[in-house]
Amino acid sequence: MRILQVSAELFPLLKTGGLADIAGALPLALMAAGQDARVLLPGFPAIVAGVREQAPVAEFNAPWGERFTLRRGHVAVSGTPGIPAYVIDAPALYDRPGNPYEDTARQPYGDNHRRFALLGWAAAQLARGLDPSWQPEVVHAHDWHAALAPAYLHFAQQAGAPRVGSVFTVHNLAYQGLFAPWNFADVGLPGPAFQMNGVEYHGQLSFMKGGLCYADRLTTVSPTYALEIQTPEQGCGLDGLLRQRSGVLTGILNAVDDQVWNPATDPALVQGYHTPEGRHMAGKARCKSVLQHQLGLAERPDVPLFILVSRLTEQKGLHLVLDGLDALLAQGGQLALLGSGEGWLEEAFRQRAAAAPQSVSVTIGYSETLAHQLFGAGDVTLVPSLFEPCGLTQMYGLKYGSLPLVRRVGGLADTVVDSTLEDLASGDATGFVFDRFDVAGYERAVRRAFALYQRAPDWRRVRGHAMRRPADWGTAAAQYIDVYRQALG
Ligand code: ADP
Ligand code: GLC
Repeated sequence: MRILQVSAELFPLLKTGGLADIAGALPLALMAAGQDARVLLPGFPAIVAGVREQAPVAEFNAPWGERFTLRRGHVAVSGTPGIPAYVIDAPALYDRPGNPYEDTARQPYGDNHRRFALLGWAAAQLARGLDPSWQPEVVHAHDWHAALAPAYLHFAQQAGAPRVGSVFTVHNLAYQGLFAPWNFADVGLPGPAFQMNGVEYHGQLSFMKGGLCYADRLTTVSPTYALEIQTPEQGCGLDGLLRQRSGVLTGILNAVDDQVWNPATDPALVQGYHTPEGRHMAGKARCKSVLQHQLGLAERPDVPLFILVSRLTEQKGLHLVLDGLDALLAQGGQLALLGSGEGWLEEAFRQRAAAAPQSVSVTIGYSETLAHQLFGAGDVTLVPSLFEPCGLTQMYGLKYGSLPLVRRVGGLADTVVDSTLEDLASGDATGFVFDRFDVAGYERAVRRAFALYQRAPDWRRVRGHAMRRPADWGTAAAQYIDVYRQALG
């Protein structure tokens, strides 16, 4: 099958969150399964710089009349022929400071509706033959940034264009791409698209609804989140539409890219390590002591090191970590955090590190290397999210033997098994899970982590089991291929 993946980010070229990890891993997994997969990306500077051997494919007009060029090249990935990639060459739209979505003052760019309509638009042009040598049979759009692609395909087919299957994946329903209604005139959809069963949302233009209403098949990134978004509590105002479309909605759990996240081969670690049965773990102890030294923490092999790698936003439940920090430190634990995001959270964590530098380390910023080192060194990975479509850091925690401590929500509920007496006895336990989104629930889970840590043989057993847990991409790719077939059928 010829499959076009459409996303705003792709690891290793450009990443602000988990979307990039998935957008980078899925095409490789599809190719490994014998599929003909390509990606379409906006020409952000990091993408233009990273896509190799680019050559122009064709020029095309945006719906508002500007003319742009589509280029083709590939994303190099060692040990593979690389991922064939189309890049939208539009420096006027994409070559800007800040992150892909916001300026340096963290304000969304005023023309984001154009910047991301163009992504979906170019996907639809490819589906209609913009590259005469390759036409997708299925277009797979990720998140609101790419969500107009299924809408364009739907209306093109209504006007007689050949059928192309469309799949839309929700990575996070909380970010919907909402714009003032007058922007609708720019995006090139026919008038009837601006209605309740289309891209209109309480009078605004909703990109997310373009995907949810018009894609042939919908997926989201865990089975539990697929159910949660159909409820008023977690539906972000779209639960009614999602219930209506539940027959075409599937939850496919994200997986871990073994080439990027593997403690046995990870070049960021001072010494690799691996299990069977939790043996060959000397490298992990070394990673811990080296990192403690590097971060200025007390070099204590005997105290549990809690780690956190995260966007600092309300979604991630980080006030629980702040409120529970005294108790964590009183029990002798250490905390090492890497993150960036909301100013008040950055400042609150900075202050806690300044007050107890031997026990709390806070790095504000973005570092792929330090992220890997934290998973390598950590004993417990904290993910106490308010909501979590899938979550990747708990899976990296599993893989690196840094046991996840998570709230039972979304993909966290699908990937971590609590260390209850029964699950310890059966050997299924992989971490610590709490239910209520409050400090008491979080602190009880932290106490359970300390209790297990005191029982070294049990800790090692759970860790060995956790390290074999995370799902592999082969399984997820097979599920996506199934969904593509349904979209075509
Ligand atoms: P989300 O996509 O909601 O941010 P995920 O857990 O799915 O959450 O993915 C987060 C990804 O971003 C992981 O790969 C994580 O390691 C990475 N990450 C988050 N913050 C940072 C940071 N400050 N530095 C490096 N990597 C980070
Ligand atoms: C989103 C979600 C996260 C998920 C990621 C990749 O950013 O917040 O839970 O793991 O997408 O699907």
